[in-house]
Amino acid sequence: MVTAYDYSSAVHVDSAGIDLILVGDSAAMVAHGHDNTLPISLDLMLQHCRAVVRGAPRPLIVGDLPFGSYEASPAQAVEPAVRLVKEGGVDAVKMEGGAPSRVSAAKAIVEAGIAVMGHVGLTPQAISVLGGFRAQGKTVDGALKVVEAALALQEAGCFAVVLECVPSPVAAAATQALQIPTIGIGAGSLCSGQVLVYHDLLGMFQSPNHSKVTPKFCKQFGNAGAVITKALTEYREHVEARSFPDAACTPSRCPARTLMTSP
Ligand code: KIV
Ligand code: NA
Repeated sequence: MVTAYDYSSAVHVDSAGIDLILVGDSAAMVAHGHDNTLPISLDLMLQHCRAVVRGAPRPLIVGDLPFGSYEASPAQAVEPAVRLVKEGGVDAVKMEGGAPSRVSAAKAIVEAGIAVMGHVGLTPQAISVLGGFRAQGKTVDGALKVVEAALALQEAGCFAVVLECVPSPVAAAATQALQIPTIGIGAGSLCSGQVLVYHDLLGMFQSPNHSKVTPKFCKQFGNAGAVITKALTEYREHVEARSFPDAACTPSRCPARTLMTSP
C-alpha cells in the first residue's frame, strides 16, 4: 500500500502494481505543507479522493476520515464515511484510534455498508495528547493496548488495521492475534503488508529544509526530489541562455499543451 493524493501519483502507484492506495490525510503535510495532519478538511479530502480515483482504476482505494469529522459520536462518523465513498469514489475508509468510542464508530460505518480500515499505535490525529510523533506500545501496558485495540477493531468489522510506529514484536503479536491483515508503517517486517507515504518513499523532499517531513523509519526507494530539481534547474538555465526552445521545437513539432488535440 502507498499513499496518493492526485491524478499523477495515482497513475504511478497503479502502474507499479501496488494493491492498495491510501488517500491519506498526510496530504495536509506533503501536499499542503502543514506540520501535522490536523488542518485538512473533508472537502479537501474529497477533492484528493476524486483525483486519485480517476488515475487508479485497479487498486483498492481507501480514504482517510479527516480529524474533526468523526470523533463526536458513532452516528456523526457515518456521514463523512458515506461522503468519502459517494462523492469521493473510494472503496473504503480509514479511521484512527482504538478507544471504545472509536470502535463503536467503526462498527456504525461498517453497518452502514462501508468497509473500514482501522489505525492504531501512533495515530497522528491524536498528536496533541500523544505529545508528538512518538513510537507507541513500548511498555507492556502500551503493547497490550495496541493489540487489544486492533482486536476490538476486528470485532467491530474492520477489514484491516494499520499499525504505525510500534515495536516489531508488538506488530508481530498483533498480526498473530488477528485474522484480518495488518498493514505496518515503522512497525517492522512481520505485518501482513506495508504502507508508506508516496513522497517519503520516492525521496521527494531531499532538501535540508524539508527533512522534518520525512520520518526516520522511511527508506527512500528513489531520488525523485533530486531528479525533479535537476530537470527544473536545467530548464531554467536553458531558458536563461536562450538555448530552449531550439530549432527542433517549432510550433508544429512542439505544440503548446493547450493546442493539443486528442487522437
Ligand atoms: O495519512 C497517511 O499517510 C497514513 C499512513 C501513514 C498510514 O495514515
Ligand atoms: Na492518515
